Amino acid sequence: MKSTELLYALASPLLLQILHPQLFVSAAVQDRTAPVKADSNLHQDPIMNVPVVPLPAGQDDTAFEPKDDVIISDVIQLDHSINIFAGFTRDIESVATRLDDGSRNTTVLAPSNSAIKALPRKPWEDPRDYSTLGSNAYSGSDGADRAHRNLRRFVEAHIIPTSPWKEGEKIESLVGRKIWWETRGGKKTIQPGNIEVSTVANRVANGELWIIKGVINYA
Ligand SMILES: *[C@@H]1O[C@H](CO)[C@@H](O)[C@H](O)[C@H]1NC(C)=O
Repeated sequence: MKSTELLYALASPLLLQILHPQLFVSAAVQDRTAPVKADSNLHQDPIMNVPVVPLPAGQDDTAFEPKDDVIISDVIQLDHSINIFAGFTRDIESVATRLDDGSRNTTVLAPSNSAIKALPRKPWEDPRDYSTLGSNAYSGSDGADRAHRNLRRFVEAHIIPTSPWKEGEKIESLVGRKIWWETRGGKKTIQPGNIEVSTVANRVANGELWIIKGVINYA
């Protein structure tokens, strides 16, 4: 909840308890001149130093969020040219949590669907598994675990735990590999690997979503 809504909320704490949030907003706006009352249910928002009225359990407060609070986990699902990678990010809990966290910035290097389809094997397949375990490397629950670990490595290789990310700034991706970007021939490229960035698709509150034309080496 944002401070402006909190002020509206405070204007009519009784209504807050009995009305749904949508109704509550319009009722509170009409009643915004009402005096602010002390209430034992309030606690202090440490940043804004305004009292916060806790929402009743289970009540969704997303209707209150202004547009500048859009985060990566919202926008990554919207671009169909990267929906394979977007699906992977949901499968890897550590990454899903990070992209959903407004307090941690991230630059996501999302390979296009065509880049993923062009790979010689699925991102969760590792030739070393096939050579040690044979063609059943990914069957059974051990196989599923192995595939999930490999997929996690693939996804984490594309997650840069900083934003804004400056040109030439070497940083470790979530798999712990040094990575940077530089302009070559007028194009933004990821190094090492010289992978072209096709577009910076989104800039949101907790980072940026870049679409890249290849995949980051994750072996
Ligand atoms: C996080 O990203 C936002 C939006 O680009 C930026 O304003 C803010 O300074 C960044 N925070 C850090 C710690 O880099």
